[in-house]
Amino acid sequence: MTWEELECTCQSCKGCSLCETKTNTVFGTGNREADLMFVGEAPGEQEDLSGTPFVGRAGQLLDKYLFAVDLKREDVYIANILKCRPPKNRDPLPEEEDACIAYLREQTRLVRPKVIVCLGRIAAMRIIKPDYKISAEHGQWVLKGGIWMTAVFHPAALLRDPRRKEDMLEDMKAIAAKLKELNA
Ligand code: URA
Repeated sequence: MTWEELECTCQSCKGCSLCETKTNTVFGTGNREADLMFVGEAPGEQEDLSGTPFVGRAGQLLDKYLFAVDLKREDVYIANILKCRPPKNRDPLPEEEDACIAYLREQTRLVRPKVIVCLGRIAAMRIIKPDYKISAEHGQWVLKGGIWMTAVFHPAALLRDPRRKEDMLEDMKAIAAKLKELNA
C-alpha cells in the first residue's frame, strides 16, 4: 500500500463505532521518512477538531521536550494507536485497538523508523508488551523486529503530575542520544 492508499482507506474507515462520533480522522503527521516515530494513544478534543495528532496542551508540552533535545516536529513522525477520538477521551476499548492497529502497522512499514517511542502506558501496552508498567519501565529499551523501542510518560500525565518531568527530560535525552548512536 502507498501512503495515499493507506490514508484514503483510513479516512473512510468504518472498522469500529468511533467513526460515528468523530469529527475528523487523525491519521498521523510529520516526516514520512523519519528515523524516530512517536505513538500516542488516541486523539483528544483538539486533535479531533483539527485532524492532527498532539496539537492540544499535551502536544504543546511534547513540542517543548522535542525542542529541549534539539529535535523538531518535522524530524519525527507522530501517530496514535486509535485514529478516531473516543467519546470524552475514555481509554480505547480492546476491540477499537484491534480494528485500528493495522493502520499503525502499515504506517510503521512505510516510515521504517529506527526508533519508536510510545507516549504513555496505553501505547506501550499495545506495542511493547501487554503488562508494561510505565512508572517502573519508562526509558528502558527493547529491540523488536529490528526497531529500538521505548516508552515515556504521556505528556498529559506530566501535566497532571509535574513531578515526573525530570524523568521525562532524561528519557528524551536518552532517545536523542540513541538516534545519534544509530546514525553514527
Ligand atoms: N493524546 C494522545 O495520545 N494523542 C493525541 O494525539 C493527543 C493527545
